[in-house]
Order: sequence, then structure tokens, then C-alpha cells
Amino acid sequence: MHLAAIRENTVPGIQGSDIGNILLNAGLLTDEDLKRIVALQGKEEILFGEAAVALGILREEDVRWALSRQYSYPSVNTEEEPISKELIALHEPSDPRVESLRSIRSGLMFSGAGNIVKSIAVVSPEEGEGKTFVAANLAVVFAQLGMRTLLVDLNFRGPRLHGLFRIKNNTGASSLIIKRAIFEQAVRTTSIESLTVLPSGPKPPNPSELLSWQDTRELLGTLKERNDLVIIDTPAFSRTADAMMIASLSDGVLLTALKGKTRLSAFGQTKRQLEASSVRMLGSVVNEIRGMKK
Ligand SMILES: Nc1ncnc2c1ncn2[C@@H]1O[C@H](COP(=O)(O)OP(=O)(O)OP(=O)(O)O)[C@@H](O)[C@H]1O
Ligand SMILES: [Mg+2]
Repeated sequence: MHLAAIRENTVPGIQGSDIGNILLNAGLLTDEDLKRIVALQGKEEILFGEAAVALGILREEDVRWALSRQYSYPSVNTEEEPISKELIALHEPSDPRVESLRSIRSGLMFSGAGNIVKSIAVVSPEEGEGKTFVAANLAVVFAQLGMRTLLVDLNFRGPRLHGLFRIKNNTGASSLIIKRAIFEQAVRTTSIESLTVLPSGPKPPNPSELLSWQDTRELLGTLKERNDLVIIDTPAFSRTADAMMIASLSDGVLLTALKGKTRLSAFGQTKRQLEASSVRMLGSVVNEIRGMKK
């Protein structure tokens, strides 16, 4: 894709591409941000970090943090690692997208989701349609009501929640399923009260198989018992059997589409497949970069 080419060609040397990757993986940069930084860097012949700060995309401490990661030295900054700015529910509470998420939250609560439906899988047909973005920010707005909310990454194909919350992915859901960790190790607290995160954990050799195990069903049952609400991030529905399996292990599904990207045919097909199963459809979210609605 374009992005890989940009990283290799225009970010000078290993250093530039590493810092870009570190920041992308941490969720501090979007692909679009990266393109803008690289463009300015090329034009002005300045360092990657300088360009990012000049554009107002990153703060100096974000750059210092990424550099410390890159060279594996402890960051000189004593502040906590910055939580991703993708968590708009935290950083931009009055943004219209967050208002929309709050109304989605109310809709789910009025439909009894707060009580009866305790686990929600966020699903969309393809990659890059905002499942992680919606799941994470929705979890934040639920937690802000004081509900004990657990955000779970079951996207073993491309896990990203650990990056958003700056936590290690050395133990997580996969470790719990295969009983290689205890809850206290795998489930992480966050700086947001009432919100905990279970990252994916190490990638299993065969994610679909792992998801089909009784141990996975049991794990989700235990997670529901321990929380008021469990929100689950999933991989693209149309690519593998994973998302359908996760959906069938959840109490309800929120079907997400990204305006201008998700094809109507793919959306329709996903919806039909879900409806044909015993899965409970809670609603759909039209995710827009500038707003979203239920
Ligand atoms: N409403 C939005 N406003 C701004 N940025 C958004 C919005 N929705 C998604 N994005 C951005 O789009 C990119 C892709 O979103 P995300 O990672 O959530 O997609 P995904 O469906 O989880 O993809 P995958 O299937 O690969 O896991 C991310 O950089 C995310 O921050
Ligand atoms: Mg995702």
C-alpha cells in the first residue's frame, strides 16, 4: 500500500521508519498524520519529530517517549506515557463524535444492554472501518458512567488495543485461554476509573481454532461475571471465521461501517450473515471521521 512505500522511501534511514512505526503502533499517529509529517520533513529537511511537533500532531514528550523506545533508553520524561489521542472520549469530550457515542451508549442502555446484554462485540466487514476506534471510545464513555467496563481485544490478526492504552501485549486473552496467565496479570487497569483492558496477548498459531475452544467461551463467561459490561474488539468479519465466532460468544453485536469506505454490499452481507445466526443485533454505527450516528 502507499503507506509502506512512504515509510521506506521518504523517511530517511532505519531511524525515521522506526520512530514512525513506534508512534503508529502506539496509536499516537494515524496514517494520515504520518503522510503529513513525512511531506513536511521532506520539504523542510528537518527531523521527523520536529516536523510532527511543528504540525501540532505530536507533543514534544510524545517524541521523546518514541525516541526512548527506539533506542531502548529510559525516557527522560518522567510523565506517564501519553495515552493515544485516538481515545477522543478522553481527550475531546465535547467532540461531536463523542456526543454520538454517548447517544449510542444511551440507546444500548435503553435497549436493556446495560443489564441483560453484558458483552458486546464490535464488528465490521473489512479492515480499517473503525472497530477499534468505536470499541475503545465506547468503552470509555461507559466507564465514565461508573460502570465496570472491560475492553477485550480478540483481534488476534491485528491487535491494537494495547497500543492505544500503552500496555504490553506479553500476556492477554490468548494467555488466559491457554491458562498461561492469571487474571491479575492479563487484565490491566487504566488511568480511566472503572475501565480495564484485556489485550489480545501473544498471537496464537490458529486464532479461529482457539476461539472455538470451550475455554474461550468459559473465559468470556467469567469476564462477564467480573464486570458490568464487556466490549470486544474483533477482526474484519469478511476475512476469517473469527468475528462470527466472537459474535456468537457475545450477548449482542454492534455492526460498524465507515462512511465513504464500507461497501453497501459488504455491509449487507455481514448483516445478513449475523441475522441468520442466533446473534442478537444491537444496532449499527455509521462511523464518520467527522461524526457518527446510530
Ligand atoms: N470516527 C473516526 N474519526 C477519526 N479517526 C477515525 C475514526 N474512525 C476510525 N478512525 C481511524 O481510522 C483508522 C482505522 O480505524 P480502526 O483501527 O479503528 O479500524 P478497524 O476496523 O479496527 O481496523 P482492523 O479491522 O484492521 O482492526 C485508525 O487510525 C482510527 O483512529
Ligand atoms: Mg481494529
